[in-house]
Amino acid sequence: MSGNVIGERFLLLIFGESHGKVVGAVLDGCPAGLGLNEDDIQSELDLRKPGQSIVTTQRMEEDRVEIMSGVFNGHTTGAPIMMLIRNTDKDSRSYEAMVNSPRPGHADLVAKMKYGGFNDYRGGGRFSGRTTASFVMGGAVAKKLLRETLGVEVIAYSLEIGGVRAEGFDIDTARKNRYMNEARAPTAEVAEQMKRKIIETRGKGNSLGGIVECVALNVPLGLGEPIFGSLDSDLARIALSIPAVKGVEFGSGFASTRLTGTENNDEYYYDGDEIRTRTNNTGGILGGLSNGMPIVYRVAFKPASSIASKQTTVDLATRKEIELIVPGRHDPTVVPRAVPVVENATALVLADHAVRAGIIPPILGKRQ
Ligand SMILES: Cc1cc2nc3c(=O)[nH]c(=O)nc-3n(C[C@H](O)[C@H](O)[C@H](O)COP(=O)(O)O)c2cc1C
Repeated sequence: MSGNVIGERFLLLIFGESHGKVVGAVLDGCPAGLGLNEDDIQSELDLRKPGQSIVTTQRMEEDRVEIMSGVFNGHTTGAPIMMLIRNTDKDSRSYEAMVNSPRPGHADLVAKMKYGGFNDYRGGGRFSGRTTASFVMGGAVAKKLLRETLGVEVIAYSLEIGGVRAEGFDIDTARKNRYMNEARAPTAEVAEQMKRKIIETRGKGNSLGGIVECVALNVPLGLGEPIFGSLDSDLARIALSIPAVKGVEFGSGFASTRLTGTENNDEYYYDGDEIRTRTNNTGGILGGLSNGMPIVYRVAFKPASSIASKQTTVDLATRKEIELIVPGRHDPTVVPRAVPVVENATALVLADHAVRAGIIPPILGKRQ
């Protein structure tokens, strides 16, 4: 299987399966001299880990990170950083029972066919949402690097879950609230509505989709390598690599198709010596380059496919149609757990571009 590496100069390789021994990441190209310890990674992983609330899967994993290489005396050395978490709360029985009955909406059938049945199907194997812990491990390093060198901050939140949409909040409210509620919503009020909807839907054996919005602040002008390395295409690529993502839009996105030029253009003005735009319909990226305004993009997640409702599938042994109620522990919506994943994925792309542009140097300071 290839396709496990992303980035050009700040590279992430991810490995592991849902019910294998470990899930982890190797980060190559991180500058030397970044203060880093396991708590830096753990604090991000804790926001994604399962079993934390009534609106997520009840699989209980500690997700305790171990840094295996690349850090010495509390600082990155410039060598590859290998990080992993161990899978402990595994229950593969339901997957053994389902080996010949692929779940509609999941990757079971295509994975089995493409890899000749050699794929690890337990818990969705390589196609499990658990692989996103690796995005977070690498992204946590990227986030810290961006914060300490450029003051970049990345903030994501659940904009919409099951049609319940957050309206009328600002970024400071979202920053403060998003990890204070189980829905990862920008306000406590909408979080309560989202939570009620999730619980009600799960009670009916069903699941929900939604939208994660992500904002990156203080991104310097000029990140991106047009044409094929444009900042928006790289962000879209990593977002679409997150399982269950079905769409990405920047700024006014699809709604811009219904606007006129005068409505959609972002007009310039001087703010002291800085040139800014009065609106941000472009989402902070023009011509594939960051323009100094906040980067704003939205990621669409489909409803989680593993549901406790009766669905039709095929039995690959008997070649007959059968009814399936997916057993096991699953997220009734992946959106809340995907919020830190989108945040960290965004940081990975921004860090890669900042390293490529030479804005982040290969060595940060000098050891005393
Ligand atoms: C954080 C996270 C958790 C997920 N948890 C589940 C889950 O519990 N049950 C499920 O069916 N899918 C879950 N998924 C989605 C599946 O992994 C995904 O739908 C599947 O691999 C098929 O890929 P695709 O939807 O991108 O085509 C999760 C995704 C993410 C990002």
